[in-house]
Amino acid sequence: GIHLKIAMLGWGTVARSLMEQIEKRHDPELQVAAILIRKPHPLTHPAMTYDYAQVLADPQIDVVVEMISGAEPAWDYCRQAMEAGKSVVTSNKAMVSAYYRELVNLAKKHQVQFRYDASVAGGIPWLRTITALKATDPIVAIEGIFNGTTNYILDHMERDGLSLDEGIAQAQRLGYAEADPRADLEGEDLARKLMISAGCAFNVLLHRDQFSAQGLQGLTCQDIQAFEAKEKRCRLLSILKKTEAGIQARIEPVLLPVTAPLAQIRDNLNAGLLRTASLGELTLIGQGAGGPPTAHAVLTDILEIKKKSQVSPLPLHEVKISEAAEDVRYYV
Ligand code: HSE
Repeated sequence: GIHLKIAMLGWGTVARSLMEQIEKRHDPELQVAAILIRKPHPLTHPAMTYDYAQVLADPQIDVVVEMISGAEPAWDYCRQAMEAGKSVVTSNKAMVSAYYRELVNLAKKHQVQFRYDASVAGGIPWLRTITALKATDPIVAIEGIFNGTTNYILDHMERDGLSLDEGIAQAQRLGYAEADPRADLEGEDLARKLMISAGCAFNVLLHRDQFSAQGLQGLTCQDIQAFEAKEKRCRLLSILKKTEAGIQARIEPVLLPVTAPLAQIRDNLNAGLLRTASLGELTLIGQGAGGPPTAHAVLTDILEIKKKSQVSPLPLHEVKISEAAEDVRYYV
């Protein structure tokens, strides 16, 4: 098979989970050749380095896996990687939403791959599913819950009577909230994910000043109780629709009947609903954040790149039929 050497940028939660998942595979064809960290972090792993120039100059490194937070300096690192002929995988929604067009153009220009599935809804194969569906069936509309922090807060304001501030504190303790939780509360985290989803689904560059993003500011326990009395539940929804007149895009708290599918989304789960011409509706629900789910998306992207560089199909193995064959529903 094809050997793939990767460089990891960053050593946060996602990077560490990715390392664990790679080590668990025991795959001699996938090697972590470098881990770029910043001083004062000590060099605690043999692959760790402070020197990005050395990573860029290493012709053996095929893929740069960027897992830093914030658009800068991540963008510079990714640009330089592609200019050096390396493919890029990223989990960084701030960087992708800020430099979407540039990233796509650079990948094309340098004939490398740019993959960003982990940048929206971590453990849900969200952008991957959009890409697969739209190849045969245009996406008509998207609706979903893409911020775990605010969903956790809404859910627990209702269930445990928490205040907005108590909800934020809990979400921070559980590790879902952004470093600055205002990005979650005021809808900016969601705005980034909406721009990326729109790009992936409709091949459009959605600018931040073209849509409104409302968050949960000002919501009180009394509001939540009043909703409950009317058998309604508040969820912070991201909405994208393709219409004759253009793309509709907005982020806003919406009152749903308690029986609505998106009203059932609890804790910090994310949910994305896709509507296409021939499939009708499809809903994906899962972990939108956290180390292991996000690293899983990153690893899937890395393995896709590995597969793409495969020159001939994988050999088929002889199959061993199990005694309980009637119980086996899927053969891969
Ligand atoms: N702060 C984000 C959330 C993390 O709560 O969903 C994942 O993007």
